[in-house]
Amino acid sequence: MPSFPANTRNAIITGWGTAQPAKVLTNHDLAEVMDTSHDWIVERTGIHRRAVGGTTVGLSVESGRLAIDRAGIDPREIDALVLATTTPDRCVPASSAAVQHELGLRCGAFDINAACSGFVYGLVIAHGLVAMGANKILVIGTDTLARITDWNDRNTAVLFADGSGAVVMEVTDDARGGQLLGWHLDADGSAERFLYADIGGYIQMDGKEVFRRAVRIMVDSAEQSMAQAGVTADQLSLIVPHQANIRIIEAACQRLGVPMERAATVLQHTGNTSSASIPLALGAAIEDHRVNPGDLVLLVGFGAGMTAASAVLRWGDGLPHHRPEGRR
Ligand code: ACO
Repeated sequence: MPSFPANTRNAIITGWGTAQPAKVLTNHDLAEVMDTSHDWIVERTGIHRRAVGGTTVGLSVESGRLAIDRAGIDPREIDALVLATTTPDRCVPASSAAVQHELGLRCGAFDINAACSGFVYGLVIAHGLVAMGANKILVIGTDTLARITDWNDRNTAVLFADGSGAVVMEVTDDARGGQLLGWHLDADGSAERFLYADIGGYIQMDGKEVFRRAVRIMVDSAEQSMAQAGVTADQLSLIVPHQANIRIIEAACQRLGVPMERAATVLQHTGNTSSASIPLALGAAIEDHRVNPGDLVLLVGFGAGMTAASAVLRWGDGLPHHRPEGRR
């Protein structure tokens, strides 16, 4: 288990943004073109509708701009852009390069691919950059899975969709309270065959096997982050899990001993947006005023690879509606 250097510089979230394409596909729309039904999809996944369309760069620019605006900073102040995506618009260059240009950033930019765990990987990397002297980092999670989904395959087509979520993270001092208390990253490449897409191909998935492993690795990762943070599940104010299937979230929460009322869920209207799913759920929780300074928040994801990632944050006072009077 990694340990923190005693003098680690910490970071808090000061802005957030989300984006979804305009085109909405309901379960009823899908039932018109494949052998499925609204009731089956809701009962087995919890999903009612999803948004599809757009590009990874376009959605990232939209969510990233909102996050920068809410943070109230000049884009040129950002020291690095981390874009988590499994669906870049091109192989070369990284999609983050185009996002960096369109947002008017003057900094390094890179893509990371850790499938649905990507945003939490990005958040941990951003904390690492801040520990090494960076002051402001933009972390974006975006996926456009509709482009790699076979819309004739009911096993996958009912699950996947497109979206983006972003946060601005800024260096903080202890007085402002926010802190990354614990984190855990994992991967198990031996499970590749259960969930993959070849270059130019569609997502192939053994849903049952992914389900079984997902619950186990989410719980394991969350427990490792909580142990490092020295917190217990009953102390968590909010858990923001990867939005793949409501039954996976329910099973993981039950094993962790966290009541479902404390879980952030948006999959009902987003579907599984991979790297975007955790920041979309976090953004909705922020908008609903479900996070407050001092709260303990657990982010936990799993994905192809099979990756897992989690982080325990003590929420700071960096958001516009949490900032003390007079401070930006
Ligand atoms: N509509 C109607 N019936 C369906 C559908 C559908 N869309 N899909 C499958 N069925 C049928 C099956 O053929 C099967 O019929 P049978 O009993 O006659 O053989 C029956 O429904 C049950 O199928 P199961 O596969 O057992 O259904 P299950 O309850 O396992 O749900 C699901 C399937 C939703 C795919 C589930 O296994 C799951 O969510 N797995 C995890 C997938 C996941 O999270 N993937 C993303 C990982 S993250 C990332 O990196 C992208």
